Amino acid sequence: MALSQEKIIEIRQKSDIVDIISEYIPLEQKGKNYFALCPFHDDHNPSMSISREKQIYKCFVCGASGNVFNFIMDYENISFLESVKIVANKVNIPIDIIDYKQKSNDKFKELYDIYDMSNKYYQNNLKTKDGIKAIEYLKRRKIDDNIIKEFQIGLSTNSKLYELLKSKNYNDDLLLKSGIVSQSNERIHDTFLNRIMFPLYDLNDKIVGFSGRIYEDSDQAKYINSKDSDIFHKGELIYNYKRAKDEAKKKKSLIITEGFMDVIGLYRFGIKNVIATMGTAVTSNQISIIKKMSNNIILCFDGDNAGEIATISCANEFIKAGVKPNIIRLNDNLDPEEFVDKYGVEKFEEKIKNSKTYLDYKIEYYKMNTNFDNSEAISKYIKDVLSELDNEDDKLIREITIKNLSIDTGLSINTINNSIKKIKPKEKEKQIVKEKVKLDKYHRAERELMFYMIRYEEVLKIFENNRCFFPNQVFRFLSNELVYFYRQYEKLDIADFLTYLNGKEELLEALKEVDDIDVPENYSIEAIHNYIDILNDYGRELEIKRLNALVKNEIDEDKKIEIINEITRLKVGE
Ligand code: UTP
Ligand code: MN
Repeated sequence: MALSQEKIIEIRQKSDIVDIISEYIPLEQKGKNYFALCPFHDDHNPSMSISREKQIYKCFVCGASGNVFNFIMDYENISFLESVKIVANKVNIPIDIIDYKQKSNDKFKELYDIYDMSNKYYQNNLKTKDGIKAIEYLKRRKIDDNIIKEFQIGLSTNSKLYELLKSKNYNDDLLLKSGIVSQSNERIHDTFLNRIMFPLYDLNDKIVGFSGRIYEDSDQAKYINSKDSDIFHKGELIYNYKRAKDEAKKKKSLIITEGFMDVIGLYRFGIKNVIATMGTAVTSNQISIIKKMSNNIILCFDGDNAGEIATISCANEFIKAGVKPNIIRLNDNLDPEEFVDKYGVEKFEEKIKNSKTYLDYKIEYYKMNTNFDNSEAISKYIKDVLSELDNEDDKLIREITIKNLSIDTGLSINTINNSIKKIKPKEKEKQIVKEKVKLDKYHRAERELMFYMIRYEEVLKIFENNRCFFPNQVFRFLSNELVYFYRQYEKLDIADFLTYLNGKEELLEALKEVDDIDVPENYSIEAIHNYIDILNDYGRELEIKRLNALVKNEIDEDKKIEIINEITRLKVGE
């Protein structure tokens, strides 16, 4: 069952945002407000302010803002309902909701149980005499008992997990669905045989599948993974999510490797802010989660050629999603674990610290692959680098890059600059230009009026009694919601209004935008009426335009006159 809006408001009002945020990050009081290093971007000066009075937080650098629920949602990367639950707990308001996750847990409870049971079975195998060879293999890879325990590593053997699960009364359909067993020629059998088993966890740390690695000479695939099921989606899995999430916050960076073995390999050296996908290309779903884990994403793929290609395609996916990852490349075809083994943790951390921006990495990559004795190759090199610059808004970086291009190729900066002009400006740049267009007085009026409406009940009341037309549809909707909210709760509480708008991203964005405009905090009644007049003018102009168009198409003379009269009335009756 869903939680009522009233209950959520009650929970919000009983909590104190300053107390709750201070449980997550240290706060410092300055005057009326509290300040903190913003956890949502790489902050060096406290840029986040928290207002006890308004019960909202706001970062003036990255723009993160919201009420107590938003903070917990974004900090813990959890759903709205889950954050409500956490706050409810803290303020001792019992809520008897079964949230979506729990519900789906129940629905898929049997699947989870099957994985848990299989996991215990696999783990136990490793301790028996069937596990001797596998343990030897793990030891060779320096995976000791602690790591085996930590990552719950196990072993599938020739014996029958299928029979064990059947004896627990699970039916074949479900077992086949789980992927733990497979069917070939009518016969049902274990999917994983004689493999070292690595459980795979979802974001809630529940086992949703396995990956099994061969450990003796075999011509079979090195790894096989569980097939996708209702609860396992390979393209969504982030290996080591739970550990890495906390560690990434501490270290202020998150390393992405190619495979989960790299994660385990680095873990044994105490490097824990590391995740991996399941050897598949990173999906937009994963990126949206990874993005929240850290503002400093570092790709550290294998040093070989395949790793190079994977780095570029992965980085491109991030760039598409608006995230600029940094890159490290390992020499001598080493994978991350081999690198640390050979050169030590310090060298690795140094590499992390000196990781390259994607732009620099890409330029170096092009440079290495260019024969500078060949003019066609040089020309291509310049074009490649310039096309990378399309994504770069920083003027200085652009200039430095062009200067370096000039040094590399011996062409003058002018010549290079001239060739840029021939490349069409990208959509993105056009958009920026559009945003910078000065707002006309009507659009300024709607924003400024809104700025006061969300702060002062008196202004909201004036607006209610003199409804006027907002030119921008989103602000129109927002004003309607605000008035509706105010009528319903008879109180203008912006922290609760945020909850009320939950899920309406466009309106939340508009609210943020309005809240940020640069106008004096205080208002005069006169100014408010002035805004309303301006907006009424706009509404009138719009109506006149509409009627003029109507007149043109009207054939009935009487009606035509009627409309013309209406237009005249609008024009003079102001
Ligand atoms: P790698 O071949 O780099 O494996 O594949 P690895 O992580 O270095 O493992 P070790 O060190 O050889 O034991 C990277 C990832 O690709 C997937 C796995 O998820 C692996 O972690 N993969 C690889 C498969 O799914 N199947 C395969 O046969 C090989
Ligand atoms: Mn490896």
